[in-house]
Amino acid sequence: MISATFCAAIALGLPFVGASIVRKDASAWTLQGCFTDSSTSRTLAGASFASANMTVESCTSFCDAGGFSLAGVEFGSECFCDHALQSPGTLTSANNCNKACGGASTEFCGAGNFIDVYWNGTPPPTILLKVGTWTYSGCFSDSVSTRQLPNRQTISGGVTVESCTSACKASGSAIAGLEFGQECWCGSGPLTSSLSNDNNCATACVANTTEFCGGASRLQVYQDLTAQVCLSSTLTTGFNLNAIPVTPPNAPAIPLHVHIIQTVPLVSWSVLTALSDTLFTSTLLNNGGLLPMSTSQPQFRTASLTTKPGDSPIFVTTQFPPTAVGPYCAMANPLVPNGPQVLGLNGRNDLWALCTNISTSNPSNRIDAVYSPGAGNPHYNVSSCQSVLLEIVNL
Ligand SMILES: *[C@@H]1O[C@H](CO)[C@@H](O)[C@H](O)[C@H]1NC(C)=O
Ligand SMILES: *[C@@H]1O[C@H](CO)[C@@H](O)[C@H](O)[C@H]1NC(C)=O
Ligand SMILES: *[C@@H]1O[C@H](CO)[C@@H](O)[C@H](O)[C@H]1NC(C)=O
Ligand SMILES: *[C@@H]1O[C@H](CO)[C@@H](O)[C@H](O)[C@H]1NC(C)=O
Repeated sequence: MISATFCAAIALGLPFVGASIVRKDASAWTLQGCFTDSSTSRTLAGASFASANMTVESCTSFCDAGGFSLAGVEFGSECFCDHALQSPGTLTSANNCNKACGGASTEFCGAGNFIDVYWNGTPPPTILLKVGTWTYSGCFSDSVSTRQLPNRQTISGGVTVESCTSACKASGSAIAGLEFGQECWCGSGPLTSSLSNDNNCATACVANTTEFCGGASRLQVYQDLTAQVCLSSTLTTGFNLNAIPVTPPNAPAIPLHVHIIQTVPLVSWSVLTALSDTLFTSTLLNNGGLLPMSTSQPQFRTASLTTKPGDSPIFVTTQFPPTAVGPYCAMANPLVPNGPQVLGLNGRNDLWALCTNISTSNPSNRIDAVYSPGAGNPHYNVSSCQSVLLEIVNL
């Protein structure tokens, strides 16, 4: 994922080039450039003030006094502060910031919807990726009317990633979310909202401005890896699955495919296998059911059926398939903090294996994915099974 920090660093790293009149570098504050802005989604969303006699110096000293590292002047008379640039503010041509400051006719102070941004050299905050047993799982949409995590925590000493995850752990929750710089929410999931880009979780924690604490209507979500818990049971963006051997560390990923094993007129059944196959090109997750998609055969719809422990995940393809069932879900990656999410079934992500299928109706000894392999299955010898995680690879 591209982090907000990364975007901010890119923007801030750009040297300022090509000024016609005076663009002041006020003391330690250096001009980073002219950025887009809008009144509904501020590029600098911390403190602000307006004054008819605005200057670059009065703005940077105001933001300095508030402890901010970014200051921006706009429309000749407005000053905004923040610790990081907010999405979708974008660097644009210096020519767009062409309005003189109300208090200094020789200085530029942005323009309507364009802001001249200055930086005092303090590094931008970061999204902490791992805190104790908790791992960062993404920046999710949230709303006042439909809270993704129901239990808000009051934390004396202030909300940080450390204090929020500890409070959620103490209250018995496996998912923690930070929002709007100072809110801590706990719950058990799954989340039903969409995952958004990390640069939407770019509000510094009020209690520690070296860390991000979500954003406006955005939850910066952490999952406790010691609990097996579903994060999402719906993913509307197509993905593929990669089997990642649990041992040895860094073993190569094995791409998995949905492969038809039996066909009668107008109905086919498939399993999940390491055998290469290009019929199904992506998969969706809807309410716990997997929906493999075929670009070459879009008229046939495919849905997951109930998979029993010891079996390979099974799918049916017909023109009118049953509602896909699971329950499958996406969970935090226990091997790679902020890495691809992994597939869970029945609330577990640690029971998957690859096994050599020795079924007599499968003379090729295909390697199949098996959920919770057990002894005595006629299709494989459990000693051939290798434990894997199923990484969700977004397309
Ligand atoms: C700017 O204007 C404010 C009132 O809007 C005034 O109090 C202040 O003294 C002025 N500053 C300068 C430098 O003129
Ligand atoms: C702020 O957060 C950083 C990163 O987690 C940490 O190293 C630092 O100790 C914290 N500062 C305070 C004052 O808590
Ligand atoms: C093994 O192969 C048979 C025949 O293709 C199939 O029915 C079965 O689902 C496969 N996988 C497992 C784990 O039994
Ligand atoms: C399973 O494999 C092991 C090791 O290859 C072998 O000793 C055992 O007899 C096999 N079991 C069955 C039921 O085939």
